[in-house]
Amino acid sequence: MIPLKRRKVSLPVNQQNDTCKFPHVSIFILERKMGASRRAFLTRLGRSKGFLIEEIYSSSITHVVSENNSGDEVQAWLGNQTGQDTSSSVHLLDIRWFTESMDAGQPVIIQDRHILKVKPKPDGDHTAMLLKSYACQRRTPLKHHNSFLTEALEILAQNAEYNDNEGRSVAFRRAASVLKALPRRVRSMEDLRCLPCLGDHSQRVIKEILEDGSSREVESTRQSEQYQAMKALTGIFGVGVRTADRWFREGLRSPDDLIRTGQQLNRAQQAGVQYYDDLQKPVTMAEADVISDIVEKAVHSVLPGAEIQLMGGFRRGKEFGHDVDFIIKTFESGQEDVILAAVIQRFKSQNILLYSDLQESTFDLRQLPTHRFEAMDHFSKCFLIVKLKREPEPDSGAGRDWRAVRVDLLAPPLERFAYALLGWTGSTLFERDLRRFARLERGKLLDNHALYDKATNSFLSADTEEDIFAHLGLEYIEPRQRNA
Ligand code: CTP
Ligand code: MN
Ligand code: MN
Repeated sequence: MIPLKRRKVSLPVNQQNDTCKFPHVSIFILERKMGASRRAFLTRLGRSKGFLIEEIYSSSITHVVSENNSGDEVQAWLGNQTGQDTSSSVHLLDIRWFTESMDAGQPVIIQDRHILKVKPKPDGDHTAMLLKSYACQRRTPLKHHNSFLTEALEILAQNAEYNDNEGRSVAFRRAASVLKALPRRVRSMEDLRCLPCLGDHSQRVIKEILEDGSSREVESTRQSEQYQAMKALTGIFGVGVRTADRWFREGLRSPDDLIRTGQQLNRAQQAGVQYYDDLQKPVTMAEADVISDIVEKAVHSVLPGAEIQLMGGFRRGKEFGHDVDFIIKTFESGQEDVILAAVIQRFKSQNILLYSDLQESTFDLRQLPTHRFEAMDHFSKCFLIVKLKREPEPDSGAGRDWRAVRVDLLAPPLERFAYALLGWTGSTLFERDLRRFARLERGKLLDNHALYDKATNSFLSADTEEDIFAHLGLEYIEPRQRNA
């Protein structure tokens, strides 16, 4: 028997105290498959007999009544409403319980035949996980079944970003991310029932692709001059959306246009233009391995006890990346402030450094986590372009025996290592939702540096990523399942 944990504390606006005879039974009638008019009829009937019937689903509901829905469907609907697993806190009941109660003039004892059966959850809560609305509550593998839809939605997300519309961009990314977590290919709109984060616009796009094979909006965006130019211009290292947009308005379309018109470029952008072709080529896992060796040797030459670890896309299992991200673990306080300059010095002396931007630490232990997602963190870090040895390409004339590769190094203080690693492993949407979940669901502030509990005004310490998920009351999601 499921205990009735939640009792009514306040009455709904449209029901007077004197008409409610059974305040411990708070009923929600599901409209799904029943229709609004039958629901309204049953609501009036129930209320006339002194039953407490709520219009809106909330945590005070004790009995959910539905007609022609399976337990799984009702549970999925509830999960979608609440973002939580509600199975243990409410009775999911067939309409028969309601009609029998009406006949009896009081809530009848719940019998087995009234209870909607919910399938036991396969391997570790998997189905319920899919329905959760925060990306950090779901497992999202790299390879999934719906790229034909997610790639389309991500073009619209990218385009919204180019137009400085962050809200719209995140909405499309959320929709794509939910589809990435599905265990099978979407074949009809029916398959999308009960899924969170699918707004009207995303649904329209999906419907068109399912019916016609492609979406006109996506295809015209993909072909548009603005989209293509913004993609080319923001693809230059050191160029953000603002700058690219200004250039686009001035009639510039490509890196060649920048050179041809003699645009003023900062140091990063100069390097970005100079190594554009190399940096456009994805870095392979094999190349990342070679760079790991180079970085590790450099770090050990300065601090033999220090450790390095991959972060970013490669840690999430990607086979290609736009760069390679490393975190350096130092064990004595202060070492994090000197290690990067030493590594850069060594790369210079090895003649493999093409560009470096070293950002000294501005980290302060007492600083509260920021809620601005775009804010840069305060750790020591550097953004590099290095030479990677390779076989010269036969048709490349002079035959350079190297290619340029982007490398990011991060050196946080030891006590914040877990937060830094979690923050830089991504994906970006996963990070965004971790922070949003912490703030909205747990009253805690999270960023790359720390987790702060607003209820107790204290920082929560963590040695590992697992500790951080545990502080947040989240199931641990391994890096390879963070490809939200
Ligand atoms: N990140 C960050 N602060 C920065 C740069 C990056 O917190 N100044 C985080 C981002 O949120 C991202 C992760 O570090 O989740 C990795 O960033 P990036 O290398 O840009 O992306 P990847 O996921 O590694 O993708 P790619 O394979 O294209 O490199
Ligand atoms: Mn990366
Ligand atoms: Mn990076």
